[in-house]
Amino acid sequence: MAGRLAGKVALITGTSPNICGGIAEGMAEEEAKVVCVDIHPDYAQQCAASIVQRGGQAIGVVCDVTDEAQVRETVERARTTFGGVDILVNGAVIFNQKGVLDMSLEEWTRQTAVILTGTFLFTKYVARLMIAQGRKGSIINIISTAGHQGQPRNVGYCTGKSGLLNFTRSVAMELAEYGIRVNSLTPTATDPQEGMERAARWGTAYGDPRLVRLLEEMRKGVPLQRLPSPRHYARAAVFLASDDAEMITGTDLRVDAGTVARYWAWTPQTTGLWQGIAETLASRSPKDG
Ligand SMILES: NC(=O)c1ccc[n+]([C@@H]2O[C@H](COP(=O)([O-])OP(=O)(O)OC[C@H]3O[C@@H](n4cnc5c(N)ncnc54)[C@H](O)[C@@H]3O)[C@@H](O)[C@H]2O)c1
Repeated sequence: MAGRLAGKVALITGTSPNICGGIAEGMAEEEAKVVCVDIHPDYAQQCAASIVQRGGQAIGVVCDVTDEAQVRETVERARTTFGGVDILVNGAVIFNQKGVLDMSLEEWTRQTAVILTGTFLFTKYVARLMIAQGRKGSIINIISTAGHQGQPRNVGYCTGKSGLLNFTRSVAMELAEYGIRVNSLTPTATDPQEGMERAARWGTAYGDPRLVRLLEEMRKGVPLQRLPSPRHYARAAVFLASDDAEMITGTDLRVDAGTVARYWAWTPQTTGLWQGIAETLASRSPKDG
């Protein structure tokens, strides 16, 4: 049976061994041809090489998503190599956990540029190409649960990611007449295991052992009690990119194990306490009749 993305070309930005490298490999497993784009040459090339090694088709392109000329050239490379683009995943990011009190203007400008301007530029040039070629493509913007909630001391990231939520809706409306669907996908704190294994497979270094401990603490507050892995995001991205999602545009698909839906005052560990209080309150309430 043909893969769910057979015959399609996916251009993915930010293809480190973690999330977008996982999405790139997941889309290649569904037979998409993949253009792996990263400012870090190793991540662009290693991601493409890993797909080719597994029997897929891919190229790596080194590109700064904030540089309009480079973005234009990258989209042109996709056209000359694979004939066009059907799927765009905007995932490139820089992390810089600073607050409004201590972040420099330069840092703010750079971080929001990678998140917002990079997504704007790739969407612009890929959408123009899709329209010129009459392709009813799918654009997927990678958000974060930090784009839905107010994380302290992460102001550039929170602002950029929540900006992408409404960028997604606005562009979805603009491109609807061309049959181009625009959605977002929200990951959350991610299980580090898969990214580290992928990095080892690619022969590169990735991850920070301190993060492993922090993520284990975070896991305790997750309703499903597990942190998602890149493969879970890849499956959701394949769905949004595939014809199965043909009537879905302008939406956000959260793959967050329930974290954004969680009532802020409840954690899985407090379930027993809540039940005890509920029973006491119920016993004090006036009874019917
Ligand atoms: N890791 C998480 O727990 C998590 C949680 C929620 C959302 N996300 C989102 O998922 C996506 C991937 O996250 P990740 O953890 O794999 O991040 P990552 O840091 O591993 O990958 C980001 C990639 O973007 C590249 N990049 C940075 N600046 C660039 C530029 N100017 N041009 C081109 N490429 C550039 C980096 O080189 C890197 O390879 C991001 O959009 C991130 O916000 C991650």
